Amino acid sequence: MTVGPPIEELHFSDAPNVSSVPGPRSRELIDQQFELESRVVTYPRSLPVAFEEGRGATLRDADGNVYIDFVAGAGVLNVGYSNPYVVEAVQEQTGRITHTLDFPSEARVEFLERLSSIAPGDLAGNSRLAFGGPTGTDAIEASIKLARANSDGSSLVAFRGGNHGQTAGALSLSGVNKYKTKGRGPYVPGVEHVPYPYPLQQGVSAEEAVERSIRELRELLEDPYSGIPDPIGVWVEAIQGSRGVVVPPREFLPRVRALCDEHDLMLVVDEIQTGMGRTGKWFASEWSETTPDAIAMGKALGGGHALSGIMFHEQFDTWEPGTHKGTFRGYVPAMVAGTRAIEYIEAHDLLAHGREVGELIRDRLRAAGETSPYVAEVRGEGMLTGIEFHDDDGEPFTQFVADLQRYCLDHGLVVWVSGRHGCVIRLLPPLVLTHELAERGCDVLCGGIEALTKRYA
Ligand SMILES: Cc1ncc(COP(=O)(O)O)c(C=O)c1O
Repeated sequence: MTVGPPIEELHFSDAPNVSSVPGPRSRELIDQQFELESRVVTYPRSLPVAFEEGRGATLRDADGNVYIDFVAGAGVLNVGYSNPYVVEAVQEQTGRITHTLDFPSEARVEFLERLSSIAPGDLAGNSRLAFGGPTGTDAIEASIKLARANSDGSSLVAFRGGNHGQTAGALSLSGVNKYKTKGRGPYVPGVEHVPYPYPLQQGVSAEEAVERSIRELRELLEDPYSGIPDPIGVWVEAIQGSRGVVVPPREFLPRVRALCDEHDLMLVVDEIQTGMGRTGKWFASEWSETTPDAIAMGKALGGGHALSGIMFHEQFDTWEPGTHKGTFRGYVPAMVAGTRAIEYIEAHDLLAHGREVGELIRDRLRAAGETSPYVAEVRGEGMLTGIEFHDDDGEPFTQFVADLQRYCLDHGLVVWVSGRHGCVIRLLPPLVLTHELAERGCDVLCGGIEALTKRYA
């Protein structure tokens, strides 16, 4: 069976092709948006464009400018924009029935089967799935309830720098202070944060960074004076994406797993950003051969449509019907799209492709870093890459990164900024990015690094 067109046929053929950004129609639409929508809007503030159409790993704006996209809707479009194999099935499903609460259907069962078929490690053949609301943060709330249902304890352990979402429980677990300002609380009580290994920021070796994290975690769990009694679980990202693609050394996750086992704690790995093939495995925790008790999934789960959920070991399926729910607990067109996305990734071997193209991107950036004193580190796994920039004093070079993002946009490449004081360019292109588009995108990015390095030298 042919599973959609080859990846080479998915994109606008002329990308990148831009004249002036923003063009008049983009300006007009942004003005109209800002007149009606809240100040809370973020993306068009640093990328002032109105995107009208997407194809594969390329985007066209309202003025006809065509871009290569290294953002993929923050990691949602793993199989690319408007992938015909996904679109065809979604259109067919949408014409039949869209919303079925959690009643079964052919589409739902097919999706459950497909998703179970990619369950990692011990979860294979022993997993259960649960859907609550449509977005990642809902999956985290579900995981908190699941851990509570399986424990008499009360406290929760998470890691500094983690981003788990915007609802109360997920925000409490998050270590991003800027989301927590000005009376956003009260937060869920009893959440404790321990350091996540980040050798560059900590100024220590990778080994020492892991030791510090594990030492603090162990102390928290074992010291009768730690002030955190009866924890119920540990929440951790396999890679901290929003913090700027902080990739922990491989031994970190297995050691967290071992401590959870020792203390009978549920290990929840947040794979909302890193899952569904983003890092060259279905789940990033597979890189360190660690099987979580529960995996939180979102973003690319619904093949470009809003869908989130948790996959967990069946031994934890102790909660009563209705303990966790939500009106949109599994939107059927998103499930159809999710099934098609898994099939497309498998048929086109996009996990291996993502590993290869991701390495190509990092090699190009490391080469650019050889000639720029401002490139502090290039890191990543598969199609998730972070480039961290420091100034002459070794401090986050926020302005350089903002200028680089704008340079890229003006030259037809969409990239996003993350990390401490915005000092990281985070790249998470669709997995369908071809070698050729990756090279063209890197030409822009590396050209920008070179030009700005000259300007700031
Ligand atoms: C690791 C991680 N967890 C949770 C979330 C929250 O997901 P959502 O914004 O879809 O609610 C995000 C969003 O960026 C994320 O990266």
